[in-house]
Order: sequence, then C-alpha cells, then structure tokens
Amino acid sequence: MATYKVRVATGTDLLSGTLDNISLTIVGTQGESHKQLLNHFGRDFATGAVDDYTVQCQQDLGELLIVRMHKERYSFFPKSPWYCNYVQICAPDCRVYHFPAYQWMDGYETLALREATGKTAAEDCLPVLLEHRQEELRAKQDYYHWRVFVPGLPNYVHIPSYRPPVRRFRNPNRPEWNGYIPGFPILINIKATKYLNLNLRYSFLKTASFFYRLGPMALAFKVRGLLDCKRSWKRLKDIKKIFPGHKSVVSEYVAEHWAEDSFFGYQYLNGVNPGLIRRCTRIPDKFPVTDDMVAPSLGEGTCLQAELEKGNIYLADYRILEGIPTVELNGQTQYHCAPLCLLHLGPEGNLMPIAIQLSQTPGPDCPIFLPSDSEWDWLLAKTWVRYAEFYCHEANAHLLETHLIAEAFFLAMLRHLPMCHPLYKLLIPHTRYTVQINSIGRALLLNEGGLSARRGVQDMPRYYYRDDSLAVWDALERYVTEIISYYYPCDAAVEGDLELQCWVQEIFNECLLGRESSGFPRCLRTVPELIRYVTIIIYTCSAKHAAVNTGQLEFTAWMPNFPSTMRNPPMQAKGLTTPQVFLDTLPDVKTTGIILLVLWTLSREPDDRRPLGHFPDIHFVEDAPRRSIATLRQRLAEISHRIRQRNKCLPVPYYYLDPVLIENSISI
Ligand code: FE2
Repeated sequence: MATYKVRVATGTDLLSGTLDNISLTIVGTQGESHKQLLNHFGRDFATGAVDDYTVQCQQDLGELLIVRMHKERYSFFPKSPWYCNYVQICAPDCRVYHFPAYQWMDGYETLALREATGKTAAEDCLPVLLEHRQEELRAKQDYYHWRVFVPGLPNYVHIPSYRPPVRRFRNPNRPEWNGYIPGFPILINIKATKYLNLNLRYSFLKTASFFYRLGPMALAFKVRGLLDCKRSWKRLKDIKKIFPGHKSVVSEYVAEHWAEDSFFGYQYLNGVNPGLIRRCTRIPDKFPVTDDMVAPSLGEGTCLQAELEKGNIYLADYRILEGIPTVELNGQTQYHCAPLCLLHLGPEGNLMPIAIQLSQTPGPDCPIFLPSDSEWDWLLAKTWVRYAEFYCHEANAHLLETHLIAEAFFLAMLRHLPMCHPLYKLLIPHTRYTVQINSIGRALLLNEGGLSARRGVQDMPRYYYRDDSLAVWDALERYVTEIISYYYPCDAAVEGDLELQCWVQEIFNECLLGRESSGFPRCLRTVPELIRYVTIIIYTCSAKHAAVNTGQLEFTAWMPNFPSTMRNPPMQAKGLTTPQVFLDTLPDVKTTGIILLVLWTLSREPDDRRPLGHFPDIHFVEDAPRRSIATLRQRLAEISHRIRQRNKCLPVPYYYLDPVLIENSISI
C-alpha cells in the first residue's frame, strides 16, 4: 500500500469554487491509481480553498507524470464551473510534485495535468507523455481556430461558441453608432464577450472593476449632455470642465502648454506615440521646404543644410494615412490628411516644429505652414498633425502593433505549444485577458513595415521613452536569455523543436500574413534568434502596450491636444483661420464625450492586476528559471527606482514604462 498526500488549490477570484464532485487519477511510471473521489464530506473546493486529501494506492506508482481531474455531477445540484489553480502531490518517498492547472473546468469533464517540469518534445521519451502532449494540442487545435478579421490585418481567435456581437437597439436616426445605445456602447459590448470561453474572459473582480469605473462616469456624461450634443464647443475653456475632479500632473500640464511648440515637439519623444519620428538627412522632394522658410526658426549662423548634416533635423511623415476616405459622423463629414512635419533639435535640447505640410502632394493648394504664420493658422496646422498622430497612434501603434499582434501570438501558442513546453510557461503570463479586451475592442471601436528599424534617435536628449524602453528591454532580454539557454543548450535543439517551428510558422502565416517585409522569420534556427523572438513577444505584450496605452487619457483629456476627428477639410490657404474656424474644425461635443469616455475606461487597468515580472501562477518549478524570475524582478525594481528618481526633477514626469505600472499582458 502506498500513501499519497494530495493538495488541491482552488482559484481565489469570486465564484471560482464548485459544488460538483471532483475525483482524481494519478499516473506514474509504475502504474496508475484508481479514480478516487476527493471528499471531506463538507465544503470542498470552495473559492480560495487549499484542500488536503490522502489517497491510498495498491502499489507505488513510481515517478509521477500526470494527474487526471474528473469533474462530475453532485447529487441534484446544478453544474457549476471550477477554477483549479494547481494540484500538488507528496509521494511516499517525500518527493513533492507540482501540477499547474490555472484554468477553468466548466462542464462535466476530465482535465489531464502534467507534472510541471518544462520539456520540449525531444526530451519526452515516455509514450504516455508524448501521447498526452499530442492529445492536448489536438484538442486545442480542434477548439481554437483562426478567423479573418479584416483582410490585411492579423487573424484572430475564432472559437465555436463565439458569436459576433449582435447590434441591438437599432435606431435609424443614429446611424453613427449603428444602433448602440448612445453613450453606453461599452456596456453593451462587454456583454457580447459572454460567449467567450471562461478561460479567455476577465475574472469577476476585473469585470466588476471595469463596470465600476465606466458606469458612473458614463451616467455623469449622459446627464451633462456630453453624449448627445452635436454642436461645436462654444469656448475652448469649456473642454477643461469635462473631468473636473480627475486631474493628474501630466493632464494639467497638457492643458496649460498644449499650444506651445516645445510641448508639441516633446510629445514626439515622451507622448503616447513615441516611436514615429526619424532623423532626416535629406528633405524629401514631396516636402519642398526652403532655407528661407525655416531660417528664422533655425537661428543665426546656420542653415537647413548645415542642420541636416549635423543630424538636428527630424521628420514625422504620416504617409500611411494617405488615401483614407472621408467618413460621416453625427451627420457631418469628417476629414483626413496625411501631413509632413519637420522638426529641429535646438541647442537647448528642445525639439521644435519648423514646417508643416498637410498633404503628401505639394502644390499651390497645399501651403507649407510655418511658426511665423498667424497664430491660428499655425495652431490649426499643428492640430492637424496631432489629429494624424491620434489616428496613427490608435490604429497602428496601439491596436495593430500591440493588441492584434498579441492575440495572434497567443492563438499560435495555444495551438502549438503544450502546457509543459518551456515556451508556453514563459509566455502564458503575457497573454492574460488579451482576447477579452480585443473582443470588446473589435465590437466597440472597429466597424468596419518592419517591427524595428534605426530611426536615428539614439543620441536625442530627454527621450525618456527610449531610455526606459531600452532598460526594460534589456531586463527582459536577460531573463529570456537565461531561461531559453537553460532549456535549449544548442542551436540544434531550437531547429529540431517541431512544436516551436509550427508555432513560428503559424505566427508568420496568420499574424504577419506571410509578409517577408515584416522582418518576422518563418522559422528559427539558433538560440539567439529564439531569444530575440521571445523577447519581442514579451516586450510587445507588456512594455510596448503600456507605453502607448497608459497615457491616452492624460494626453487627450484636453481634447484640442489630441483630437480624434476633424470636421473641416485641411486648410488650402493661409490667413483664413479664426478662433471660430478652429472650434468648428475640432470634434463636436458628442464626439469628444464619447472618445473621452472610452479613453477614461481604457487608460487605467481594472483591478486584478499583474505587474511585469509578477507571476503568481507557478508554471516553472526548476530552480534555474525560478532564480531567473527572482532576478528579473530585482532588475525591474532597480529600473523603477531609477525612473522615479529621475521623474522627481522633470516638469512632466514620464512614468508609462515604470515597471511597477506595466502590466504583464494586454488586458485593457
Ligand atoms: Fe490597450
């Protein structure tokens, strides 16, 4: 007779416990136990419970490999889902085995959990283990499929039970929202995600926090008429009243300094879209800026050519927005432009705009605006550029380059890496809740080049985004290097890992749509290639998203700084802009209200947070990766300390890449 001490931990989120019967079967190298009911004749498997049981077996089972958890009906009670954190078993020889689950069991089903040691398929020699990893992948590939979202964009998760959100409350008088209750689109759309499988959905706590943040503010906006008024703002200063009680150092600074050229330039470095500008070594033909135009901005004793040669000229080119058609919103045509903005890094270290052209095609109807133009012409020209920034930021930097890509990484991982795979263990914390927030985003916000390149900004002063992102990247790369090197001792181990290669191939096909120009590989051959690949994924799902997400409201609360749409065509001549034209070009009250309500909700992580490097789910059990996790946290704490010290001396603190504020995954 052999005695096994079994410990089962139930999740701590509300409603994680179950009334159903839970039994278990233990599988070892020497045999298999009988299925045994885990029952203390009391309240087993309650939320947050850690229950201990004793299981007797006829024989010693040898080294433990797998436990099967069986969830079955209990008496007349209705089915209730159960979130299992983990199972731990202490064998007769006192060796403790950890079996990570960290997932929901919804119906009456059996879940087979492997012992936690990370193994690639090449390291699995027992048929029972090989069969288990193949069965796990087969089940996931049967359940999770790729689906085309919009041709040209990364494909996304399609699961059989998922229904695209139904557009209810159709109202022909309000075609702009295509039937959503005005002002409450998120509330409706979060309901649409109820079709998601429990393992993909927000926890109860996170959902409650999401509603708690959104609900009262949505109601307040509605009562104050901010969601219904289709007129222009009467006075700019009225915009300040939108969030009377919710101000931060940054949002206050923005409202105070938004019209200043130096702050306009600053936002290219440390705003919410800090990866766009590039050093300019030659003025492009499509932007015929002359020396005379910019001489007053450059100052005495220099000229445009000299500044170009010194590397002090930068270009923001929004050509990606060229050709976007105009749209109707609130019964009014909304316009686009694809501007070019030239900036100069002055001797004091300030990046200043010196010329703006609102189209990619120069000509008599497309003047080049200069700081010497009338105050309102120059301000509106800059505001057009800020609008282009808003579009590029939300559609490209935020949605495409973080949210959509991360979901595709996640789906490929689910379909090709079994839970025992070291890369699964490494990546799973960085995928939490991404499908849920993307489902909301797709339903709510979306109606119908390479990932890295040298941009010539390495010596730009006061570029805190660059400094902080390099520091976080370095910490992540060292962490990934340690863990990958532990599991992949040589390049052949990478090249020969078929699960890994299928995962990479599927990301290339379904996320990058087979585009070689993306710079993403279709296979990995060496350990350094794998390290870089995994670091990019973790960085994208954590720090990169934090950089473009967290500051959204702070930079937009003063709407003229970051308008979401423009109601007049781009200016075709100088001298025609008045304060009233400026107000009539900005978004109307309703559009401002809706956008700020959305950003209010999305710019702060609801509760149930997991900051970068905090991995409470124990997927790794070996000493080496556990040490690497501890070291990562230490390094991130040091970076956080340095950022906080630096910020004390800055008029506008830059804290979006403070590791304490970065989430492990894209979950908002
Ligand atoms: Fe986001």
